[in-house]
Amino acid sequence: MKNYDSCIKKLVCTHCGKEFFANEKHGLCGSCGKVLYPIYDLEKAKETLSKKEIQKRKVYNIWRLNEIMPVNEAKYRISLGEGWTPIIKLNNMGRVFGLKNLYLKDEGQNPTGTFKSRGLCAAVAKGLELGVTDFVMPSAGNAGAALAAYTAHANAKAHVFVPKDAPEFILKEIKHMGAELTLVDGLINVAGQKAKEAGLKNNWFSVSTLKEPYRVEGKKTMGLELAEQFDWTLPDVIIYPTGGGTGIVGMWKAFEELETLGLIGNKRPKMVSVQPSGCQPIVRAFKDGEKFAKPWENAHSFAGGIRVPSAIGDYLILQSLRESKGTAIAVDDSEIKKAMYDLAKMEGIMICPEAAATIVATEKLVENGFLVPSDKIVLFGTGSGLTTPNDW
Ligand SMILES: Cc1ncc(COP(=O)(O)O)c(C=O)c1O
Ligand SMILES: [Zn+2]
Repeated sequence: MKNYDSCIKKLVCTHCGKEFFANEKHGLCGSCGKVLYPIYDLEKAKETLSKKEIQKRKVYNIWRLNEIMPVNEAKYRISLGEGWTPIIKLNNMGRVFGLKNLYLKDEGQNPTGTFKSRGLCAAVAKGLELGVTDFVMPSAGNAGAALAAYTAHANAKAHVFVPKDAPEFILKEIKHMGAELTLVDGLINVAGQKAKEAGLKNNWFSVSTLKEPYRVEGKKTMGLELAEQFDWTLPDVIIYPTGGGTGIVGMWKAFEELETLGLIGNKRPKMVSVQPSGCQPIVRAFKDGEKFAKPWENAHSFAGGIRVPSAIGDYLILQSLRESKGTAIAVDDSEIKKAMYDLAKMEGIMICPEAAATIVATEKLVENGFLVPSDKIVLFGTGSGLTTPNDW
């Protein structure tokens, strides 16, 4: 169907600008070792991506705007119903914070209970198209569960390396969906090293955060949806719990593509990264005016998904925060825990610790004047509290 052809053109390095063919396997830039992004023929995509045409579409998953997604052949576009999650107005919490327009994009309603479904759906789909049978990744847990789900669905194999203190239920999810699970004595960076070694030895395709070019495209759909759900406008502020940062940089990429397509104007939300006090490399680099973030020593937090000492896409995260006139803020574990209970009680939504960090950030940003009462603010509720039963 003409409407649904991907307009993918090439891969381009976000750091040195070197170009690569889109339809062959690539990880990081072969020249400088930084992150590659898929680039689309947006003039061609424009022919079919009008607001009127999009409104008629009945596809409510990450393949909705397929012209700007990377998979060419329809048979590889697998789906477990990820994406098109609701944006819920938090009236009760907004009232307490003195905010009139506070919203939560509830990513806990994704098939594996977190926004990780989106990125792994895209990466597995594109991997299948490129002939991959075995995928490998390090994960704090949620991404591993999503990889396990999509590989099970597609009859492929997953090899997942996870810190041994990851939430027990998420480890069960990974195992029961058939992935090979290796527990690692150390943090996500140690898991990353082990996954890399095993991948190279066995010729498995690595889908480690931003170390291949397609997970970011799945995460990009959060930005595409936000624009469409708000009738092709964007909020004033987006608050996002940041680990590897795929979501924040994916949305930033989405907004640029949507503007080139003529679907939105040039106004951008202020992007806000939230990290735990015990692991805040992006917050430190933002405050110090650094282009790259130094690794955080002795990282600790019970919010495992944002306990990421070092992110390969640090420069992309920092760029989106600065270009958007956003900010970065750290929050304590005890505050996160309280916020989980507060939201559950006030709004009837149970979210996971990473997501609850955005609530603490909101309160602090009201106090310091960064947020004003009329701001339209979207918190990213990246995962359901039901995936972390031991945290309650
Ligand atoms: C629930 C949850 N929220 C946020 C994050 C951080 O996501 P990102 O890597 O896009 O910064 C993670 C990563 O594991 C996560 O599991
Ligand atoms: Zn490069």
